[in-house]
Amino acid sequence: MNIKEEHWSSLLLDWFDSHGRELPWRDESPRDPYKVWVSEIMLQQTKVETVRPYYDSWMERFPNIKSLAAASQDDVLRQWQGLGYYSRARNLHQAVQEVQAKYGGRVPDTKKEVRALKGVGDYTAGAILSLAYGKKEAAVDGNVLRIFARLYDIEENVLSTAVKKQVAALVEEQMPDDRPGAFNEALMDLGATICIPKHPRCEDCPLGDICLARANGKESELPLRQVKKKAPVEKITVVVPRHGTKWLVHRRPPKGLLASMWEFPNAPGTGQDGIDAVRRMLADKGLRVSVDDSPAGSLKSIFSHKVWQLTVYEGELTDGKMGEEEDWQWIDRSDYDALPWAGPHGKITAMV
Ligand code: ADE
Repeated sequence: MNIKEEHWSSLLLDWFDSHGRELPWRDESPRDPYKVWVSEIMLQQTKVETVRPYYDSWMERFPNIKSLAAASQDDVLRQWQGLGYYSRARNLHQAVQEVQAKYGGRVPDTKKEVRALKGVGDYTAGAILSLAYGKKEAAVDGNVLRIFARLYDIEENVLSTAVKKQVAALVEEQMPDDRPGAFNEALMDLGATICIPKHPRCEDCPLGDICLARANGKESELPLRQVKKKAPVEKITVVVPRHGTKWLVHRRPPKGLLASMWEFPNAPGTGQDGIDAVRRMLADKGLRVSVDDSPAGSLKSIFSHKVWQLTVYEGELTDGKMGEEEDWQWIDRSDYDALPWAGPHGKITAMV
């Protein structure tokens, strides 16, 4: 059996019908979208067993949209007390008030409208739409990514946007027309009880016979997760030296970041150290420049692999003359728009 061509949803749903967990938010049919919403927000970053008593007491206190919308923020936070990540409660309260005001208390049933509610991301929107409204929408969280990485032997980083999209498409391809919500919850339960991290219980898995990672002996290796490293921030001091109506500009080297583009004189560093570094560089060109004490402004430029944090100072040529240099030019202000500026340097001209 080749999983890539197989429709395996009935294997999973049969297992779910006999092994699915009994949970307080699952005891109604059809499901109340408000209750699905509250439970999904509570279950973010929080274990099912921790959520159970909070969910029950919440529903006693705020049984519907109307009662939650009318509650004070203090009451809401008191009910949430101990669950942590309190912005979840504040966002939920605010979004429920929006539903009350804008939709007459009915949780909307389109992806666009649900997704626009505060605190509702793709996962929660998918859960509400599928569980309460029977729509064929995936709800992809870490558990679902792990299951699909194993089933389909996906060796790429599951935290990448591309893999998340691929998994959402695979979920929706398998999802049966008549039970989209049950399919999503079956995946949640499979991920929580069978297809668990590190040492999955493949011998008890309804999909064990068709799982590619298992066939290839890689069930404990997958999924691969690579957390994106935070781009390093480079602090740079920029000086804009003026002489009459002209400014001094420099062309970057022909290779590397922003190759051959024009910039104002700059050097790594901040404060007086940064200013001194730029002045030394200009002194090497035979130029003496006085620099203002306080900056004219600052700006940030984000590249894929680093962030430039520029602090910009105005300066004035006080002495010296530069020889003929291709890469260093005094240019009239009126010619500035025509220059190919190195990223953020183009914005500096509006600052000085
Ligand atoms: N984890 C997140 N959502 C869940 C749900 N609806 N049921 C069980 N576990 C969950």
